[in-house]
Amino acid sequence: MRTVFAGPGGVKIGAILADGAFPDDFLWGAATSAYQIEGAAREDGRGESIWDRFCAQPGKVRNGEDGAVASDFYHRYREDVALLRELGANAFRFSISWPRVLPAGAGSVNETGLDFYDRLVDELLANGIEPFVTLYHWDLPTSLEDAGGWPERRTVEAFGELAGAVAGRLGDRVSRWITHNEPWIVGWLGYGWGMHAPGRASVADALAAAHHVLLSHGLACEVIRSSSRGAQIGIALNLMEAVPATEDREDVAAADELDGEQNRWFLDALFRAEYPADVLGRFAAEAPPVREGDLATIAAPLDFLGVNYYAPNVVERAPGGGRRGVRRPEAAYTDLGWEIAPQSLTRLLVRLRDEYQPRSIAVTENGAAFTDVRGHDGTVRDPERRAYLEAHVDAVGRALAAGVPVSGYFVWSLLDNFEWTYGYAQRFGLVYVDYPTLERIPKSSYSWYRDLIAASRD
Ligand code: FCB
Repeated sequence: MRTVFAGPGGVKIGAILADGAFPDDFLWGAATSAYQIEGAAREDGRGESIWDRFCAQPGKVRNGEDGAVASDFYHRYREDVALLRELGANAFRFSISWPRVLPAGAGSVNETGLDFYDRLVDELLANGIEPFVTLYHWDLPTSLEDAGGWPERRTVEAFGELAGAVAGRLGDRVSRWITHNEPWIVGWLGYGWGMHAPGRASVADALAAAHHVLLSHGLACEVIRSSSRGAQIGIALNLMEAVPATEDREDVAAADELDGEQNRWFLDALFRAEYPADVLGRFAAEAPPVREGDLATIAAPLDFLGVNYYAPNVVERAPGGGRRGVRRPEAAYTDLGWEIAPQSLTRLLVRLRDEYQPRSIAVTENGAAFTDVRGHDGTVRDPERRAYLEAHVDAVGRALAAGVPVSGYFVWSLLDNFEWTYGYAQRFGLVYVDYPTLERIPKSSYSWYRDLIAASRD
């Protein structure tokens, strides 16, 4: 059955913009990642990534799908940049495919791979769109995985090489950098629970991987600053409110544990140069391999914090002592089963300001998956996505009005794309992609976002 968004939507553009909370230089953008949109997996010297390999294993991804063609952005980026321009976006977030730039993970640079990003950056700038470059969005070269992957410290140095090659080539034109996307996912889904590539399942590996991802972030900050003058560097974390299902002490404790593992673990390291004692205590037997000086490197001052927000996480204590997620009967959910709760985004942003005082925050991802269908007239109407987006942009406006320094908002995603283990079944785009023909059809949410951006500049 189709999910009907019954939550607080229907916020008119005029009302969202009414109190003037969005500054004139606010960045209105859309976000993507290399493996999810580029395709061209075997072209121009690109090496193999852990996602190529993971997708090829039976049962890992829905219908055995993969990113070999994806949304074919590698060939159609000009058309897609034109869509961004017509949208009125002044920022575009995309990621670099590591195996396109360093096919063996480290060592020799594939200049042809870098050429693609060079052309893309020029195309964006020529259209008045600021490039937001993410260095790592989960597509580790398999040669690095074969040498141990993120749980190994040598991957940190290899990431430094990637940062050097990319910033060396693009740093004269790109000033906004995101080192990593969602280290929690890399560590836990990739190495802890085996649900994402590379599919390993060890808590010790998850914590070591997450530590090395953070360490490589700190190292990359230095590398980027040396070739990108005036660089603004951030990291994108998947943050959420951890909400106890009831006021029961055990449920409250379960929510606090989740908050510790997913939010505070990363925020405390980045802003306070320490891992939270409660989480360290719980994982004493699997403690990450932290060396002297690591946390100081990780806590290099951030120019902005990237927040990827989709939904709160409601949890309860499970029988046997673990935790489990809870669906609230009164709440609305997207097709991925993620609760729609825009007010939770406002609270999250206010909390980040209160507890961590980031210089600036960019909402680097926010969006919703719904089962879009193309009508007989060829159009795609997605009122649920529009309602989701308007409620969440309104939530950002409320945080701004409360004094939180939010500098930008990026819809996930510009285009329908390869949604990891869900394959192509889950569509997040403002623009529908007809996969058999790769034709782009802007959805009604695209028109709404275009109108919002235009109205914000009046
Ligand atoms: C985020 C990822 C992004 C996309 C969205 C739906 O966790 O960063 O690649 O999959 O979720």
